[in-house]
Amino acid sequence: MILVTGGAGYIGSHAVLALQQAGYDVLVLDNLSNGHRELVEQGLKVKLIVGDISDRPLLDNLFATYPIAAVMHFAAYIAVGESVTDPGKYYRNNVTGTLTLLEAMVAASIKHFVFSSTCALYGNPKFVPITEDHPQDPISPYASSKQMVERILADFDVAYGLKSVRFRYFNAAGADPGGLLGEDHEPETHLIPLVLLAALGKRDSISILGTDYPTEDGTCVRDYIHVNDLAQAHVLGLKYLQNGGDSDVFNLGNGSGFSVRDVIEAAQKVAQREINVIERDRRPGDPPVLVGSSDKARTVLGWQPQYADLTQILTHAWQWHQKRHQ
Ligand SMILES: NC(=O)c1ccc[n+]([C@@H]2O[C@H](COP(=O)([O-])OP(=O)(O)OC[C@H]3O[C@@H](n4cnc5c(N)ncnc54)[C@H](O)[C@@H]3O)[C@@H](O)[C@H]2O)c1
Repeated sequence: MILVTGGAGYIGSHAVLALQQAGYDVLVLDNLSNGHRELVEQGLKVKLIVGDISDRPLLDNLFATYPIAAVMHFAAYIAVGESVTDPGKYYRNNVTGTLTLLEAMVAASIKHFVFSSTCALYGNPKFVPITEDHPQDPISPYASSKQMVERILADFDVAYGLKSVRFRYFNAAGADPGGLLGEDHEPETHLIPLVLLAALGKRDSISILGTDYPTEDGTCVRDYIHVNDLAQAHVLGLKYLQNGGDSDVFNLGNGSGFSVRDVIEAAQKVAQREINVIERDRRPGDPPVLVGSSDKARTVLGWQPQYADLTQILTHAWQWHQKRHQ
């Protein structure tokens, strides 16, 4: 059985589905601070433990009760802007909470851990596409919290033989094509759901934050990776560890960049609606271009993204948003 923390959230729920499809038994632990109970219990039909990763007695009890062989850890706070204004909240949940989880795993002799890290720990890129050995210079407490956990994981491997795969995602996007799952954050901070919510009339407009970046059309360029492709990588990462693989780190992205204007234009075509666009000034901390190389995940894990096409990513997200907000 695999314990999925944060399995009621966006990426975690898609990973639960991928694990089920690969034949694994799954148990979800989520405190529902941002997750959705019904997606787990009615959608995925998986047992949900409503609880916190920092609750050590609860973890000890779970590890004693269920035959848990490995942990996939998605639970975290994810809003970069909020992490700047309330850093303690992020270090407490993302770092201290994870430390509690890891210590409980060590006590229960559970040796395999798959971790959601982020491309944000590279900071402003010195070169693109970004490879795993790119220098790290996190520019938000959120990104620092992920970097700290990566460091803890390296130390726990040396001390206790806890083997981990750390996945540094670029921008997760899209939704399960089967229509069961999708992205629903509150508050929403990600571009694609914001654009689609504007197309649905749930928001008045979409803001472009900066039109004077040194990119082709002046707006920021990002690497969007379909959430099902991310989920598939997690299954491969788990199998890699279970087959005796050593701790390692992998970027997960498509290797191609789309600007904010590209995304808005493609979303208008997919939704067949005009979207009200407002151009605003840059906000601090947004690098002009973030595009990753995932060659290592392809070579070592045999990962092959299925949905690299932006229109396809947007189509799946649009189907989900229409259903979710009808
Ligand atoms: N969305 C992205 O583009 C992206 C990019 C890079 C990394 N990540 C990482 O991927 C992971 C999942 O992101 P997401 O977009 O699915 O976020 P999400 O908010 O949808 O999911 C996180 C889940 O964790 C739960 N949670 C938070 N703190 C918890 C705690 N202390 N105990 C138990 N449950 C807790 C929340 O209720 C939520 O269901 C996060 O670790 C995030 O940092 C996401």
